[in-house]
Amino acid sequence: MVAALIPGSFDPPTNGHLDVIERCAGLFDRVLVAVVRNPAKAPMFSSDERVAMLTECTEHWPNVAIGSFSGLLVDYAEEENIDVIVKGLRAMTDFDYEFQMSQMNRHLSGIVTLFVATKPEYGYLSSSLVKQVAGLGGSIDKLVPPLVATAIEKRVSNE
Ligand code: PNS
Repeated sequence: MVAALIPGSFDPPTNGHLDVIERCAGLFDRVLVAVVRNPAKAPMFSSDERVAMLTECTEHWPNVAIGSFSGLLVDYAEEENIDVIVKGLRAMTDFDYEFQMSQMNRHLSGIVTLFVATKPEYGYLSSSLVKQVAGLGGSIDKLVPPLVATAIEKRVSNE
């Protein structure tokens, strides 16, 4: 029984995130997707809203669960009996930061991080660009799941 943890901000979840989650659902017995609760950042969606969106988007994968955490990722991984952390890599630009975090987590607890390459067509996709495009009136239909697109459009039109 191998359990994987996919941590992230997921503000909001994109098709790129879901691609990585789907890959992991096929590779691991148990997949826990965890939203970081970071009061220092001003997110578009609260962590509860992000958990709810991810729960709805992943409900058809029975071995995927959604959670949230604050504090050190390695502490949460230990509490949840996680074997590996998984992070998606879009391009070499992600690599330096992700590699540094993986080394720090390994230093802290010995946990292994695996990197999954995202689908090439999602190589340019990020949550911040999705929010920017939506805020400026562009179409985000092909970038995020429909329920996420609806939530972003509602949020943007209320601002
Ligand atoms: O989606 P993101 O913003 O790339 O996710 C980053 C995240 C949540 C994985 C990272 O910020 C994190 O692990 N935060 C927890 C704090 C922590 O454990 N820091 C020390 C290890 S580098």
